[in-house]
Amino acid sequence: MKKVIFDVDTGIDDAMAIAYSLNSPELEVEGFTTCFGNVSVDEATRNTLAVLEKLGKKVPVYAGASKPLYRENRPNFAKIVHGEDGLGNVLDFSPSTTAETKSAVDFIIDEVKKQPNEITILAVGPLTNLALALQKAPEIVSLVKEVVIMGGAVYVPGNKTPYAEANIITDPEAAEIVLSSGLPLTMVGLDVTLQTLLPKTEVDKWRERGTEVGTFFANMVEHYMNFYEKSYPGIGGCGLHDPLAVGVTIDSSLVKTVPVHVKVTTEGTEDGRTIPVPDGEPKIHVCTEVEVERFLEHFLRRII
Ligand code: BDR
Ligand code: CA
Repeated sequence: MKKVIFDVDTGIDDAMAIAYSLNSPELEVEGFTTCFGNVSVDEATRNTLAVLEKLGKKVPVYAGASKPLYRENRPNFAKIVHGEDGLGNVLDFSPSTTAETKSAVDFIIDEVKKQPNEITILAVGPLTNLALALQKAPEIVSLVKEVVIMGGAVYVPGNKTPYAEANIITDPEAAEIVLSSGLPLTMVGLDVTLQTLLPKTEVDKWRERGTEVGTFFANMVEHYMNFYEKSYPGIGGCGLHDPLAVGVTIDSSLVKTVPVHVKVTTEGTEDGRTIPVPDGEPKIHVCTEVEVERFLEHFLRRII
């Protein structure tokens, strides 16, 4: 069983990833850490607590960064993609639980030090919390077992700009710190996540179950599905970005990777671009191919 710290900016695909991770016996999620990104950090924390409550799961949640490392936060939350509340406008209750008092950054540092070479960090939002942890405690680089991130678009165009993927451009300096840190890291970027699409027919089946969780997830994902249909006409589903990072953490044989250094552009029109530098160091594992059907089947068996 892999011990995981799961860093999220809970929007809709994060919510699916949370459910998938908690229904996977290969993973033991020690805690969720939250970051601004799709929504504000307070909303990401609330959404994470709400999703846990809907799922009937108890896992501690630690609130993290509210803005990028060095930039002012453009309150440019991805509300068009994820809804006003970040969960497709289906959130009709306030969670009864609250976040822990310890900060996300201290939780990451303390857990990694307490359990050297045991902790996998799975990060599916901007990389601000992990960058802050590395700045505060650089010694954790050699103590983290592995890092899996959803982020970047190395050999394909971006989704936020023609060059940049959303998680990376939200805090490019943080991404550069993490990608150049020497952490053993796998990048699950748009190169693969735009191949793993969730078909609408599957979401309809969740609703047909008539369960509270099934209806909640189906209504939430419908919002995301509509955004995809408008933005990518004829695509036939919505991107399972964050869930694929969970799948790769569970079973790395789902993807093929190339070892390459990746540099993050931090200015100009290509701000947030993740550029491969084959001769550069340190190298990370960039996912370039995915077994789409095998992943989808695995995800659908577990999501709810
Ligand atoms: C990533 O950006 C966010 O909107 C999603 O939650 C995902 O982590 C996809 O580019
Ligand atoms: Ca996310």
